[in-house]
Amino acid sequence: MEVIIRSDAEGAATLVARIIAQELRANPHLVLGLATGRTMESVYRVLVRMHRKEGLDFSLCRTFNLDEYVGLAPEDPHSYRHYMNEHLFRHVNLDVRNTHLPNGRAPDLDAECRGYEAAIARFGGIGLQLLGIGQAGHIGFNEPLSAFRSRTRVKTLAPLTLQQNAEFFGGEDRVPRRAITMGVGTILESRRSVLLATGAGKAEIIATAVEGPITAMISATALQLHARCTVVVDESAAHRLAGSEYYRRIFATEPEWEEFRRLD
Ligand code: GLP
Repeated sequence: MEVIIRSDAEGAATLVARIIAQELRANPHLVLGLATGRTMESVYRVLVRMHRKEGLDFSLCRTFNLDEYVGLAPEDPHSYRHYMNEHLFRHVNLDVRNTHLPNGRAPDLDAECRGYEAAIARFGGIGLQLLGIGQAGHIGFNEPLSAFRSRTRVKTLAPLTLQQNAEFFGGEDRVPRRAITMGVGTILESRRSVLLATGAGKAEIIATAVEGPITAMISATALQLHARCTVVVDESAAHRLAGSEYYRRIFATEPEWEEFRRLD
């Protein structure tokens, strides 16, 4: 795992967008795993700008989102399909047929989950997986006790998750109770993963996820087992990290980060 600390949320989101752009330029057929949530909105804003100003090309890229609420139609304004259309898909040259989200209204949800895994495998697995983190430490909707070998499946949402998403639905009792989510095992198989967290509200959970003991109670701790995971945070989300001096030195000196340092 490596941790990159940027001075503010915009800088952190821009760095994540730059990592995505670098991977996409190196491999236009990139299979990109996408995430939703407030934090990701700035990443998508930067990607849209890079598409418009620098011609960043998504035409051959395929995307798989982490999760979708059970029971919501794609056109429902609360669905993650709608979120993705609004924040990214309709602003760049992604072919909508190359974009994938689980169908929360599938008549057979288990078959839908199996089909989602099969589709990821058919395209050779996820090349780069973008991740946010919930305040309870979930990635995707992998709620407490999610098995580290779990695959795409239906999960019942935890009380804290319902609370955190209540504002989007106009009340906690309106938040769907279940979601389809990629499993922790699915996420761990991505060739590279990038987790973005910003703001003081994420400081505690970031320290736990990065430096705490690995536990199924907090699915983000599984990322310590990921072959190549980069955690990007702003100063506010970094302030509980014990090893931040070391993390800063890596970004400041390692050749891998040179082109990103130049953007400062
Ligand atoms: C939801 C999503 C997660 C996301 C989390 C945090 O629970 N399923 O994938 O990481 O929200 O969102 P935010 O960025 O709004 O804090």
